[in-house]
Amino acid sequence: MAQDHLILGLESSCDDTGAAVVRRRADGAAQILSNVVMGQDALHAAFGGVVPEIAARAHAEKIDLAVEDALAVAGVALRDCDAVAVTAGPGLIGGVLAAVMCGKGLAAAAGLPLIGVNHLAGHALTPRLTDAVPYPYLMLLVSGGHCQFLRVDGPDAFTRLGGTIDDAPGEAFDKVARLLGLPQPGGPSVEVCAAQAEGTVRLPRPLLDRPGCDMSFSGLKTAVLRARDDLVAEHGGLPRGKRADLCHGFQEAVRDVLAEKTRRALAQCPGMTALTVAGGVAANGRLRAALQDVARDAGLPFVAPPLTLCTDNAAMIAWAGAERFAGGDRDDLTLAARPRWPLDQTSAPMLGSGKRGAKA
Ligand code: KG4
Ligand code: ZN
Repeated sequence: MAQDHLILGLESSCDDTGAAVVRRRADGAAQILSNVVMGQDALHAAFGGVVPEIAARAHAEKIDLAVEDALAVAGVALRDCDAVAVTAGPGLIGGVLAAVMCGKGLAAAAGLPLIGVNHLAGHALTPRLTDAVPYPYLMLLVSGGHCQFLRVDGPDAFTRLGGTIDDAPGEAFDKVARLLGLPQPGGPSVEVCAAQAEGTVRLPRPLLDRPGCDMSFSGLKTAVLRARDDLVAEHGGLPRGKRADLCHGFQEAVRDVLAEKTRRALAQCPGMTALTVAGGVAANGRLRAALQDVARDAGLPFVAPPLTLCTDNAAMIAWAGAERFAGGDRDDLTLAARPRWPLDQTSAPMLGSGKRGAKA
């Protein structure tokens, strides 16, 4: 007979150290008892991106503190948990190892089962944690390290319909912010700057003229660089208003590409219960509004989890672990940390490795 399960989740694949306790009720309902995230922005700020060595060391220093906090906030002891779920990849390997080693130690000490979770599955299953979205649904995962369309049919059944062939959109927002002298992380600062625009700068919409759901954002970043240099040459510097127009043009181009490719992805898979989105870029108001329209036109609900659960966190890892645990999946102490781990093993692997780790 189905039972309630209490799962401790651990996350350390990029620059957020997380621990969380999540309950999955016998009827499949979710309850987040705690969700502790210790960010590292200050540690990496001077370097303009995540430095893997610094990230790994900070995870190793903080992960046990995060676990202590998560158990205390949830008001449970480790022995009250039914399993330990840990991100086993993909990500920056030094960081991934920190939580995997910690998770193994906790599981061995308390005699609990261990479940290795794919970080992307954590993001992709979040709409079930927050809104109990039934399978199958379409997920657009857009973050600083990832960009892909996933058809989600089960906790371990993902079909990748397409994704970026180079940069992730968040990475492009961050690079554009750097080019324009705006603070990191670039997404929020570009969005704020774009809101002050009085005009726009027309930029290309890469790969829109090609069929399918693949995307490219690196050329767009180069187009921003050229436009900036032209403006600087014309005005002897970059006037604030022009910078805002450029941010506006860039944001509109990203939005148009993501919205149109989402339309195509939905057309490829009829019978979805919802259009869902996750990842830091899902915080963007213009993008959310555009996706809402795409969902409405397709007659589907649009589900965007709250921002704290869109970005990296351990509650999503605990939940993905809970879904697999309920289905009888278990790992053991031989669980390996994996820098690369595509969710859809049958689709062609994406090339390259970004600042935030290997692209899956
Ligand atoms: O999911 P996330 O927290 O971390 C990973 O990449 O795993 O996403 C962070 C990314 C950053 O690149 C940041 O610039 C972008 O999400 N971002 C945004 C916004 N807020 C965060 N991009 C566009 N608009 C935003 N409002
Ligand atoms: Zn992530």
